[in-house]
Amino acid sequence: MGRDERDDDFRARYGPWALVAGASDGIGECFARALARRGTNLVLLARREPLLADLAAELRARHGIETRCLPADLTGDDLDRRVADATDDLEVGLLVYNAGAVHGARPFHDQPVEHALGLVALNCRGPVLLAHRLGRRMRDRGRGGMLFLTSMAALAGSSYTATYCATKSFDLVLAEALWHELTPRGVDVMAVIAGATRTPSMLTSNPGFEDYPGLMEPEDVAAGALANLGRGPVWVAGKANRETAKGMMPVPRIPLVNGMARATAAIYDLPFVEVAGEEFPELD
Ligand SMILES: NC(=O)c1ccc[n+]([C@@H]2O[C@H](COP(=O)([O-])OP(=O)(O)OC[C@H]3O[C@@H](n4cnc5c(N)ncnc54)[C@H](OP(=O)(O)O)[C@@H]3O)[C@@H](O)[C@H]2O)c1
Repeated sequence: MGRDERDDDFRARYGPWALVAGASDGIGECFARALARRGTNLVLLARREPLLADLAAELRARHGIETRCLPADLTGDDLDRRVADATDDLEVGLLVYNAGAVHGARPFHDQPVEHALGLVALNCRGPVLLAHRLGRRMRDRGRGGMLFLTSMAALAGSSYTATYCATKSFDLVLAEALWHELTPRGVDVMAVIAGATRTPSMLTSNPGFEDYPGLMEPEDVAAGALANLGRGPVWVAGKANRETAKGMMPVPRIPLVNGMARATAAIYDLPFVEVAGEEFPELD
């Protein structure tokens, strides 16, 4: 299994269990594989149960970890109850909220409103429910981590993917706010901004995606995110995306988030704590 001291440190901080939401393929599967290599037990959540079962069996055999499969729809009304049933007896020290890509692009009014509401459920309601349920216990324990996958699409609105852009902005801002609130309580929170990445769902839903310039590999997104967790509120996958994001967010985020929290604390007469971190950490 070849684990080292860094893996022990990682497990002590973010173990013994991690929940990966959207674990059956793509970037989420790569998170699951990377976490299993570190010896973290896994709750694997997605809709396609056979894929989860195969992945779980492989990771148990290869890495000697424990696994639990949680077949569930992240947009379902029963999501919170199903996550509670699957995790209440576990110490989940890491949440990876991965699922959330948009498949296809069309004008806002040419799609049924249910499509937009589905993205709101997947990218807003789901992250809030899981962060609330699992993050509260991390805060009580004084350790843990939460990663929220977002996108370069979070940085500006775009025709044809209006709701996707807006919901990914929600994930970015949610992660920044929770980073500020939970860092002093020992819980690391980070938004992961991914750009175009070679995943099955994108390749299937977009003919020609394979030729998009600068496609990243999903393994690199997952590995980089785990390596940078705890360094700052936002990590951007890949040098080219990072430079673009820096240009699109020229005002440093950490002073902005601190300033916003200071103003909110003043308005509501609540305590304010200045939180330090690294802007655009670059460990790929
Ligand atoms: N790939 C890219 O080019 C790209 C670019 C920027 C950002 N991102 C972000 O990276 C993340 C991962 O993207 P991805 O390309 O790997 O595709 P994705 O479709 O977001 O994720 C695929 C995984 O999520 C699961 N999933 C999707 N909808 C679900 C639902 N309603 N309930 C439960 N599980 C669900 C899928 O499994 P089941 O089908 O088995 O449920 C699969 O395991 C997303 O948040 C996306 O916004 C991706």
